[in-house]
Amino acid sequence: MSSSESQDETHLTPSALGTKAHWDSLYALELTNHSSNPSDIGTVWFSDSDCESRIYQYLTSDDLSLSPTTTFLDVGTGNGHLLFSLLEDGDFEGDGMVGVDYSEGSVELAKNIAEQTPNAEGVKFIRLDIIKSSTELDFFGSRIAEEGGFDVILDKGTFDAISLSDEMLDDGSGRRIYEVYPEKVAKWLKPEGGIMLITSCNWTEDELVKKMTSSNSGLEKMGRVKYPEFTFGGKKGSTVCTVAFRRKA
Ligand SMILES: C[S@@+](CC[C@H](N)C(=O)[O-])C[C@H]1O[C@@H](n2cnc3c(N)ncnc32)[C@H](O)[C@@H]1O
Repeated sequence: MSSSESQDETHLTPSALGTKAHWDSLYALELTNHSSNPSDIGTVWFSDSDCESRIYQYLTSDDLSLSPTTTFLDVGTGNGHLLFSLLEDGDFEGDGMVGVDYSEGSVELAKNIAEQTPNAEGVKFIRLDIIKSSTELDFFGSRIAEEGGFDVILDKGTFDAISLSDEMLDDGSGRRIYEVYPEKVAKWLKPEGGIMLITSCNWTEDELVKKMTSSNSGLEKMGRVKYPEFTFGGKKGSTVCTVAFRRKA
């Protein structure tokens, strides 16, 4: 089977949210707002679903028993708020946290907010295009390279944004760029015990599982974060889903 035949053909309709120009102009505005009013930290995606505290509860559950020195990579970090929210209750140390984003404005905004956030001095923010770069682990620092990857990779809304890009891969496979996301990101996860949490409002849980596990990612589903459910047209659903994956043994 060729690579294009093996892909699920259900794509999202492209929109401005899939373009770097959109995010660059948003973060330029959010930087201006933040510099005139430091309490304005910009958009916290999915805050109406209480997403960050639900992710925190999932990560601090007894089942996972993560240590304070757990390492985190937040892909498409935006203003970095998801990482800062994990620092709030003192369960995790900032030293092991890295946020990456392809927009320079995001990185600048997150760094500015880190300066006013307690215990965030160790959190690193780095500009990185997670699809177009071929980044090895040492890019994230010697600790991550020595440990063989991150304990936890977080994505809140970034796979969604990349899925809205109409850009095609330049390898002649006819695939859209979002289709290589799983294999690109999963290789930064520790082979044993690493977990990846992806939060989406554009894909259902089933679709997300299919997209992440049917490629060369080596990922399998391990759980989900619970959200309030509603019933519509006889079907149960939630506005946002967060699915946890781990690398297959
Ligand atoms: C919906 S926003 C979510 C921001 C943040 N995760 C949050 O929850 O507030 C999507 C983010 O993905 C970033 N992004 C999109 N494509 C990217 C890529 N190829 N590499 C790195 N970041 C990307 C955008 O710049 C934007 O910050």
